[in-house]
Amino acid sequence: MRKNPWPFAGRAAFLGRVIPKTFRDRVIAPSLLAADFSRVCEETTRAINSGADWLHLDVMDGHFVDNISFGPAIVEAIHQSNDIFLDVHLMISRPDHFLPRFVAAGADLITVHVEAPHDVEQTLVRIREAGCLVGLAINPATPVEAAEPYLRHIDLLLCMTVVPGFGGQAFMPEVLSKIEAAAKLRAELGLSFHIEVDGGIRADTAALCARAGANVLVAGSSSFGASDMAAAIAELREV
Ligand code: DX5
Ligand code: ZN
Repeated sequence: MRKNPWPFAGRAAFLGRVIPKTFRDRVIAPSLLAADFSRVCEETTRAINSGADWLHLDVMDGHFVDNISFGPAIVEAIHQSNDIFLDVHLMISRPDHFLPRFVAAGADLITVHVEAPHDVEQTLVRIREAGCLVGLAINPATPVEAAEPYLRHIDLLLCMTVVPGFGGQAFMPEVLSKIEAAAKLRAELGLSFHIEVDGGIRADTAALCARAGANVLVAGSSSFGASDMAAAIAELREV
């Protein structure tokens, strides 16, 4: 059972033990959204035993997206029952308001949407101050320029490859040029944030995204939904 032995102030030290890889390394992050919700803790253990690097937690509030998934209580249950890096994706309108609860629940990385009505820079700074790694998400229709003012604050840029709200949607290939632009901007600015993709990621689309510059692959249907999860994760790691 992994417990965070130190209060918030110690999270940075604690996170030092949970080694998030560099943007040159492939990271496979199965999305719990595609798991059996009647057994989320066991499903998390299954993902770990199948070779997952991170667990991607899709939090939806029914307002920012037209679906409701789960909140901090589920994140906490998973944090208390399993030891895996928790990549929390807040598809919610008020990430600033709910931030402390996700930090307390055990999130290791918290990603907020640039499109949500909050002070983006202030929220990103607060995530950092809480000792979590910092993520910023942009929807398919949002240009990478919308993220540019914040890139120096983040450890991860999430380029959504579907319109957020539901798993099992078709991959949107028009996002590939945005991933390339983000990787180019990262090099020009001398930054080192991960580029994550989320939505419709399978072996074929993962290969396209990796070639464009993404290294963190969120996979729901193609991992939890696979007959052999370990083989599916291994294939995503190889392509
Ligand atoms: C969309 C969700 C999905 C989910 C993965 O809001 O974020 O993208 O994580 O979905 P699939 O099943 O396409 O991998
Ligand atoms: Zn997500």
